[in-house]
Amino acid sequence: MNVFHIVGARPNFMKVAPVMNALKTRKHVVQTLVHTGQHYDANMSDVFFEQLGIPAPDVNLAVGSGTHARQTAEIMTRFEPVLLERQPDIVLVYGDVNSTVATALVCAKLGVRVGHVEAGLRSFDRTMPEEINRLVTDQLADLLFTPSEDGDVNLRKEGIPAEKIFRVGNVMIDSLVKLLPVAQRQSKNGLPERYALVTLHRPANVDDGATLKRLLQSLLEVNRDLAVIFPAHPRTRQRIADFGLNAEQLRILDPLSYVDFLGLQSRATVVITDSGGIQEETTYLGVPCLTLRENTERPVTVTFGTNVLVGRDPDKLRSELSRVLAGQAKKGTIPPLWDGHAGERIAAVLAD
Ligand code: UD1
Repeated sequence: MNVFHIVGARPNFMKVAPVMNALKTRKHVVQTLVHTGQHYDANMSDVFFEQLGIPAPDVNLAVGSGTHARQTAEIMTRFEPVLLERQPDIVLVYGDVNSTVATALVCAKLGVRVGHVEAGLRSFDRTMPEEINRLVTDQLADLLFTPSEDGDVNLRKEGIPAEKIFRVGNVMIDSLVKLLPVAQRQSKNGLPERYALVTLHRPANVDDGATLKRLLQSLLEVNRDLAVIFPAHPRTRQRIADFGLNAEQLRILDPLSYVDFLGLQSRATVVITDSGGIQEETTYLGVPCLTLRENTERPVTVTFGTNVLVGRDPDKLRSELSRVLAGQAKKGTIPPLWDGHAGERIAAVLAD
């Protein structure tokens, strides 16, 4: 069986690693890794390959950045000949980025089977580009691997037959379980005893000057009670500069490696974020997470986990932060099947 894996953007890398690893031990499986090149900076891509032990891509489509239409079209155009030439038996796509939907669409048109890892998540907010990517990919996929029960429920409501759906758990947590001991051995030198770890990159939060200004003002306020450490996505850094905003008092860093970021997360007093994956990682780690979004496609992080949606409301952020500082942060538990073995369950389904 010739299995293709498609990755393109940072959050794909921690998901592909455990699946490739689990398939390595299966006889008769040949794996081909395709990197679309959606993320191309060393600290957005290469370092993740090294730390997660992912082999160098067999194919790099080197598409780079662009508008949604341009980037998606470029991935499709460059992927089609590769697919035609190499004729895989199945293509695994990961998460909800443009690389996911673009390659799934090419496969569907050419009659190549698609497996979607992290299927069924829904924010029910179609202003998010990722929600469109999730909806379309799940309609096209032949095998849908879900991380939690809500994924199965959403897919069934959208008419996906039950026999296509496999609840395997959370592959991203597989990578976390594997590398947490390494992350915890990282030096604490120069780190404050207590700190808020911040990430921010959603277009809805950073692409509008007034919204980003308000968010930064809230973070400056947080910084008075608790040091803010803020590894910034290139797009966020660019927007802060474009809008001429003041963030000097915050410790703004370049994007960090997987292990460095995991180490910082595991020791944080609180994490403030608009990321999807970080809501899950903090739930697993039991670290309080305040999410700067009105909704989440990962509701188990709220029902089971430590996540609280604060939206873009500075008062809500203030009051939730006070709870954390008073030692009254929300307590959570780890959702079922977030146990470090999701990749093996996917490999077992494919082998069957
Ligand atoms: C993408 C995903 C998002 C994910 C995020 C994680 C989509 C629609 N969005 O968003 O779901 O949460 O990755 O990081 O696929 N840039 C660089 N260097 C890079 C990559 C990007 O400087 O290596 C800059 C460019 O200015 C680029 C911008 O970031 O235009 C946005 O990159 P893009 O891949 O389009 O989307 P992300 O915001 O990274």
